[in-house]
Amino acid sequence: MYKDLDAFWMPFTANRQFKKAPRLLAKAAGMHFWTPEGRQVLDGSAGLWCVNAGHARPKIVQAIAQQAGELDYAPPFQMGHPKAFELAEQVVKLTPTGLNKVFFTNSGSESVETALKMAIAYHRVRGEGARTRLIGRERGYHGVNFGGISVGGIVANRKMFGTLLAGVDHMRHTHDLARNAFSVGQPEHGAEFADDLERLVALHDASTIAAVIVEPVAGSTGVLIPPKGYLQRLREICDKHGILLIFDEVITGFGRTGTPFGAKTFGVTPDIMTVAKGITNGCVPMGAVICKQHIHDAFMNGPEHLIEFFHGYTYSAHPLACAAGLATIEVYAEEGLLTRAREMEAAFAQALHSLKGLPHVIDIRNVGLVGGIELAPREGEPGKRGFEVFVDCWENGVLVRFTGDIIALSPPLIVEHKHIEQMVGAIAAAIRRVA
Ligand SMILES: Cc1ncc(COP(=O)(O)O)c(C=O)c1O
Repeated sequence: MYKDLDAFWMPFTANRQFKKAPRLLAKAAGMHFWTPEGRQVLDGSAGLWCVNAGHARPKIVQAIAQQAGELDYAPPFQMGHPKAFELAEQVVKLTPTGLNKVFFTNSGSESVETALKMAIAYHRVRGEGARTRLIGRERGYHGVNFGGISVGGIVANRKMFGTLLAGVDHMRHTHDLARNAFSVGQPEHGAEFADDLERLVALHDASTIAAVIVEPVAGSTGVLIPPKGYLQRLREICDKHGILLIFDEVITGFGRTGTPFGAKTFGVTPDIMTVAKGITNGCVPMGAVICKQHIHDAFMNGPEHLIEFFHGYTYSAHPLACAAGLATIEVYAEEGLLTRAREMEAAFAQALHSLKGLPHVIDIRNVGLVGGIELAPREGEPGKRGFEVFVDCWENGVLVRFTGDIIALSPPLIVEHKHIEQMVGAIAAAIRRVA
């Protein structure tokens, strides 16, 4: 096993703590990881919400290997390769009607930057160049680049990095423990939080606002499920004022909530959607922005030899990512994985909600195959209890996610009942032990 952990400055990690007691993964297949010592760990978080079809699926592995030998790289600017077009077409077959133009990126963060730039530029090419303001939401997570942290609503991700992007405002988050604790599925109360957008319009004027960005389900800040009617109301207010609605579906995309996208699950179609993670089953970095035809078409003006949208990445539509994406979508289709979360939802919800009544459990929430268990913070030590539950689960063979004192579950969509039992059992035991 590799012993020197010094040089790697790890992302979003308590580096000093980790290097004293490392948690290393050396192998993965299906629902499991293995440590370098050969200890099996059940993956309760689909890696980082991305390995939706489970690990090391042969079809995807073979597609990547074959692609590496055939066409390892192709420049994406002014050039193309067939699999990029093929993958865009396959993605469009899954997206809600009307979302039919795909711009490839390499991550969720890049998808968010791309979507924000696209929204601002769209208004400009239509002659409404004053619409530059972006609206996010408290407790939103949209990756770590400057646009994403500016519209995002996580103080730790924002406070160290100066003034961020100008001209950004935020709506309130929708988490309402007092009214909605222990809701099964979508909470009843809180559609009116969407009216914050009307207040921001009244403050800034619609003519200055380009877009609103929200996650249909806020994942990284602790699984916040949209209250009934909330996303519908946001859509109505956006339509009324000519504001673009962006859904960040980096987590909710590709089957997590029981249909291919959160937009479909919640019955609200955005103008622009960002995805990543599940598009390649997490095997090769890739993201995408999918927009409505009219947004794309607004750029298609002027002399035809000129570039219409001055944006893109060296690795946009990378051949390995496209090969992985095509194979992933095939696996999803062959195994019905994009709707499997719906089939498993009731059993998953029942298992999760059985944790109600354990010490310090103040809320449990779920939709599709996403679950959140919120623990009361220890006096003066916010986040410590969540971290301890995470470590205890890891030591007892289950990988979960934690955000502060919230434990999140998002298993691969191939999860079976016995895995759900094991995960929930490990969490229950951990909660009791660390009490
Ligand atoms: C909703 C959302 N947007 C954006 C991102 C950022 O994606 P990435 O880490 O691939 O840049 C994430 C990552 O978890 C996410 O959950």
